Amino acid sequence: AFKPLVFSGVQPTGNLHLGNYLGAIRRFVALQDSHDCIYCVVDLHAITQWQEPAELIKATREVTAAFLAAGIDPKKHIVFNQSRVIQHAELAWVFNCVARMGWLSRMTQFKEKAGKDRENASVGLFAYPTLMAADILVYRATHVPVGDDQKQHLELTRDIAQKFNNDFSDRIADLGMGVEMKVGEEKVNGFFPLTEPLIEGPAPRVMSLRDGLKKMSKSDPSDLSRINLTDDADAISKKIRKAKTDPAGLPSEIDGLKDRPEAENLVVLYAALAETSKEKVLAEFGGQQFSAFKPALADLAVAKLAPIAAEMRRISSDETYVDGVLRDGGERAGVMAEANMKMVRDIVGL
Ligand code: ADP
Ligand code: NA
Repeated sequence: AFKPLVFSGVQPTGNLHLGNYLGAIRRFVALQDSHDCIYCVVDLHAITQWQEPAELIKATREVTAAFLAAGIDPKKHIVFNQSRVIQHAELAWVFNCVARMGWLSRMTQFKEKAGKDRENASVGLFAYPTLMAADILVYRATHVPVGDDQKQHLELTRDIAQKFNNDFSDRIADLGMGVEMKVGEEKVNGFFPLTEPLIEGPAPRVMSLRDGLKKMSKSDPSDLSRINLTDDADAISKKIRKAKTDPAGLPSEIDGLKDRPEAENLVVLYAALAETSKEKVLAEFGGQQFSAFKPALADLAVAKLAPIAAEMRRISSDETYVDGVLRDGGERAGVMAEANMKMVRDIVGL
C-alpha cells in the first residue's frame, strides 16, 4: 500500500481570504500532527492568468508567511513554491499526454475563469488540472485537503492516475514498480495512488459576503465580498456589517436558514471560527436579529484573525527567513519528486 502523504497548494494571487483559511490552511495545520505533509505555494498555477511579476514574488512570500503564521512547521514538514521543483512541470507534460481533451473540457473552473472569451484564455488555464494532478502525484501523495471547489479537479487527478496505471500496466509490472492497492473491490498494482480528497471541516465552501451563490474568492472584484487575512478590525467589522443576509423586506432572524444562503453562510462562519456546530450557534442566537449577531461574528473573526495577521506581518518582514524556508523546502521536495520522476521516465520510455 502507499504510505500516507498529504499534499496541498495555495495560489499566490493576492487577497488570501477567510475561505482559504477555513477551507484549506487551517486544515493543513491540523493534519501535520498525524501525517507527513507537503504544502506548496503554486506559482506555476498563478501564471495561468496574467500576474505582475513583482506582485507575484510578493504574493509568493505572503502565502508562505500565511502558512507559517497559521502554524505549519517548515522543519517537520515541507513548505516551498512550485516553480523550484521543475519535476511538477515535467510530469504535467506527461499527464497532458494521458488526459483527454474531453475530460478537461468538462472542468467547471475553466469555464468560470475563462468566462465568455474562451478563445482568449491561456492554454495553461485549460491545462491547469493536469498540472494540479502532477503536483500531487509527483510525490505519490495519498491525501489532499482542499475546499469543495476543488472536488472536480481531484476526481480528474484520480482519472489520470488510473489511466496512467492502465496504459503502462505491463511496463510497471516488468519494472517491478507497482504498489498494491484497492480499486473498488479489486486489488491491483499501480504506480500512482488514487488520491483521496479531504473535503471536510465545518466550512468546505465559504460563500461571498455579497452573493450567497458564489464562493468567497480572491478574484472577486468586490473587496466587500471577502474577509482578507490581512484585514484590520475596522475592515472586518465593516464587511460583516454590510454582508447580505436577506432580500430587503423579509424578516431578518437567525432561525430558519433554508433557502437563505447568505444568512446561512454567516452562521457557518461563526460556527467554524468558534470551532462549534451550526446547531449550537442557532441555539445561542436563535430568535435574535442579524443586527445583534453580526457584531458578535465580527468580534469573533477579529479575535481569531488578528493574531494570524500580526504573525504574518512579523514573518513577512524577514524576507531572508521566508526565502530560506522556500529554498530549503524546495530542496527537500526536489529530492522526493526526482526519485518518482526518474521512475516515471523509465515507465514511459523517456
Ligand atoms: P482561490 O480559489 O480563492 O483563488 P486557491 O485556488 O489558491 O484560492 O485555493 C486555495 C485553497 O483554498 C484550495 O484548497 C481551495 O479549495 C480553498 N478555497 C478557496 N476558496 C474557498 C472558499 N470560498 N471556501 C473554502 N475553501 C476555499
Ligand atoms: Na480555487
